[in-house]
Amino acid sequence: MTSRIPHFYNMTIEERRQKISDAAALPPPELGAWTQGGLSAESADPMIENVVGLHSLPLGIALNFQVNGRDILIPMTLEEPSVVAGASFMAKLARAGGGFHATTTDPLMIGQMQVINVVNLNEAKLKIYEKKAELLAEADSIDPILKKFGGGARDLEVRIFDNSPIGGFLVVHLIYDVRDAMGANAVNTACERLAPKIEAITGGKVHLRILSNLADRRIARARCTIPVKELAFESVGQISNLPNGQIGNLSYTGEQVRDGIIAAYAFAAVDPYRAATHNKGIMNGVDSVVIATGNDWRAIEAGAHAYAARSGRYTSLSTWGKDNEGNLVGTLEMPMAVGIVGGATKVHPAAQAAVKLMGVKTANELAEIIVSVGLAQNMAALRALATEGIQRGHMSLHARQVAIAAGANGELIEKVAAQMVAERIVRIDRAEEIMKSLESGK
Ligand code: MEV
Repeated sequence: MTSRIPHFYNMTIEERRQKISDAAALPPPELGAWTQGGLSAESADPMIENVVGLHSLPLGIALNFQVNGRDILIPMTLEEPSVVAGASFMAKLARAGGGFHATTTDPLMIGQMQVINVVNLNEAKLKIYEKKAELLAEADSIDPILKKFGGGARDLEVRIFDNSPIGGFLVVHLIYDVRDAMGANAVNTACERLAPKIEAITGGKVHLRILSNLADRRIARARCTIPVKELAFESVGQISNLPNGQIGNLSYTGEQVRDGIIAAYAFAAVDPYRAATHNKGIMNGVDSVVIATGNDWRAIEAGAHAYAARSGRYTSLSTWGKDNEGNLVGTLEMPMAVGIVGGATKVHPAAQAAVKLMGVKTANELAEIIVSVGLAQNMAALRALATEGIQRGHMSLHARQVAIAAGANGELIEKVAAQMVAERIVRIDRAEEIMKSLESGK
């Protein structure tokens, strides 16, 4: 199986579907949910309340990805142009340096119990620790299926907050291995089950019992090395960065691009205003795979940004630097609470198709792919920002759409679009003129 499919960009939707099912050795019906729009109103009805219909988004495939030595076609669901192309292009550059190397911790989620009305916080904390084994055994027995697959309660931690707006209270953290589930249901159930026991031990009242989205015990990490020579490129028909708005070609050496990316990262490392946008670029990649697989992207977003602020100051989730040979090295580390069993992943046919296409067998494997896509996306944004500016990529896609609207097809689309971008005139009348002149061989 290869994730490299030449000329995919210029194929029709039907040709792309065929290529994808050939490349992944999946018969078309396996991916059929995408052609039929994914979800029926009937299956949507029990998912949320007051259903009146469906809301669709584009589903594109990012190419060239290699994660831990395995080629993977990546389904991405989102509305923003340039993201799928950016991820695919960066995955191609990363491939030249061995692809993405990704790891995960055990899938440990944190459940929180807030214990209020406690007379002596220090004493109550120690009393809970004395009963830790008993409490863990109770929590562990709640989900026999999870237990069968190797999950279950792992640890209990007690924290004291002695100066809150309501005075002091305890917070008990239940650490739960949720295996291939996202885990919210298992953890919330376990916390609700433990609450009366904690009340009996502490003499207090267990108020909130809920999972934490700051899933900092469930981390996914990815790194990649881009050979510096792969970064060199020529920007044709430059639309920014040249003095006085001139048009012309600009060449970038690999070293210039590498150092530009590193300087862009430095900006995000020190400035929260930039870090928010930098991390948003990472989330463009992360969320689109999270959504394609039917996972809870709000949970992933919440976890990512809370993790980015864990030092007390919001900063970049990724790092960019160089190695001894001068190659560009990127890393990304973030919480990744995604599942492949249960929830929408189980009932949404399009999500099942996404999981199938990637051939993932565990939630950790999915998390490793997602964090790699986040890193690729981050690099795509920084490379563009550090060189020709972000508008050019958007402009190219827009130009393609205009070329198609003017009647171009096949190879002509790219030629007409490229010329319009070079001229900085992206209009349907100009597209028609260019088509005429190309067709008449002028
Ligand atoms: C746009 O969706 C994402 C970027 O703003 C990310 C970034 O600035 O790094 C381009």
